[in-house]
Amino acid sequence: MVARVSTVAFQGIEGLPVEVQVMVAPGKVGMQIVGLPDKAVAESRERVQAALHASGLSLPPKRVTVNLAPADLPKEGSHFDLPIALGLMAALGAIPGDALSGYLVIGELNLDGTIAPIAGALPAAISANAVEKGLICPADSGAEAAWAGSEIDILAPRSLIALANHFRGTQVLSRPAPAIRAQPANLPDLADIKGQESAKRALEVAAAGGHNLLMVGPPGSGKSMLAARLPSILPPLSAPELLEVSMIHSIAGQLSGGKLSDRRPFRTPHHSATMAALVGGGLRARPGEASLAHHGILFLDELPEFASPVVDALRQPLETGECIIARANHRVSYPSDFQLVAAMNPCRCGMAGEPGHVCARGIRCQSEYQGRISGPLMDRIDIRIDVPAVSATDLIRPRVAESSAVVAARVAAARERQRERFRRLGLPFATNARCSTALIETLAEPDPSGLQLLRDAAEKFRFSARGYHRVLKVARTLADLDGVETLGRIHLAEAISYRIASERLTAAA
Ligand SMILES: Nc1ncnc2c1ncn2[C@@H]1O[C@H](COP(=O)(O)OP(=O)(O)O)[C@@H](O)[C@H]1O
Ligand SMILES: [Mg+2]
Repeated sequence: MVARVSTVAFQGIEGLPVEVQVMVAPGKVGMQIVGLPDKAVAESRERVQAALHASGLSLPPKRVTVNLAPADLPKEGSHFDLPIALGLMAALGAIPGDALSGYLVIGELNLDGTIAPIAGALPAAISANAVEKGLICPADSGAEAAWAGSEIDILAPRSLIALANHFRGTQVLSRPAPAIRAQPANLPDLADIKGQESAKRALEVAAAGGHNLLMVGPPGSGKSMLAARLPSILPPLSAPELLEVSMIHSIAGQLSGGKLSDRRPFRTPHHSATMAALVGGGLRARPGEASLAHHGILFLDELPEFASPVVDALRQPLETGECIIARANHRVSYPSDFQLVAAMNPCRCGMAGEPGHVCARGIRCQSEYQGRISGPLMDRIDIRIDVPAVSATDLIRPRVAESSAVVAARVAAARERQRERFRRLGLPFATNARCSTALIETLAEPDPSGLQLLRDAAEKFRFSARGYHRVLKVARTLADLDGVETLGRIHLAEAISYRIASERLTAAA
């Protein structure tokens, strides 16, 4: 007799259906797993045998064959332990064979028969819901799976024995409750920053329109400090965004305790990060920082210190909103629609442009350092600002600074205007930065004097086509912050100033 148990193999954030077929038949004693298992799956054999033994179920002296169908789909991970063990228990009659037919099963086994948490419980629960099945998952993953919907039947046992008792009706398992959303930790507040009014303004504009931002300034001028305050002015994730972000974090095994947070992700990879760490991949395909920052911020501090090929690998996700990882026999894609925020010193010694400072290596100090950032990447940055060191007067007798809550309210209002405009047109975009170039021309119409300014600036500074559209996008956001429909001269002037700064940087390189 063949026992069948449904489970999933993860590809990107999708769970593809896999059927575990278990047959116990006379023959050479032993257990064999077939169907493209990776090392973790192949080792499942040892864990399953030990766990069943610990649960008081010894295997008969027969041949056990486990097939993971479809046979040509690669199976990665340790979450196949539980479906294999349950299939075996069903084949041996330890649990009723039809009890499992309504469930999708994932879980890793410990040698003592307890069930260990796994990555990907949330996407698995969503896959289960799609095929109208319940989910059997580890106790520690239950809270996370419960987020997939209140109508899904979820069993989250601690051990094989607990599950067998549930099916026998002697000890009924209750449905896990979705864990309370982690309270946003006390985020650092904008009010901590003294002076730096124009940098704060740029931060607000970037947050409002989802624009990529580059800050350039000497060490200690507060660039890292400014970036760390960005999460406190961003609006919370919407419900569909929350689910999408959590799926990625679930696959990466980064949802601690299954708690979901509606805070936008803020990822800060170190500049020694490898390609796999940033865009995903590695031995077992895992989402990288760019995907973990989906719907949030990817902050690259000390941008020129990152290896150039690693940073340039971000160009694809910046353009398409997803990271594609090519594996030996298949391709995996993870959503990665993030906002890039970067900070850098103006030169190797960090002081170029400061009054009275002359770099030891002259102009080359600056041009070589800035030349490490490729033009195409620079082109994708909408707002570039200089962050000069704060003066002593600013620090000693500061003006009262606005708190993050005040700025966040303006950002939220501007985002709502954008969302409403795109919704009216039936478009999927949420921010001006994501709007297509063809569309921005119709959505961002300058008044006559604004148009004249744009025309003059485009001619004088020789904007590229992309540069021209990016200026319009930023100007659209500035008008949204002011709550007006038509772009005025001041909106274009400010947007152009952010653009010229970046053209200057490219020219210096
Ligand atoms: N505008 C400011 N207001 C208050 N403190 C500041 C300001 N700028 C810098 N600092 C102080 O200087 C420190 C270094 O700032 P940091 O953000 O690390 O600089 P950078 O990243 O530009 O090198 C901060 O931790 C903070 O104590
Ligand atoms: Mg810093």
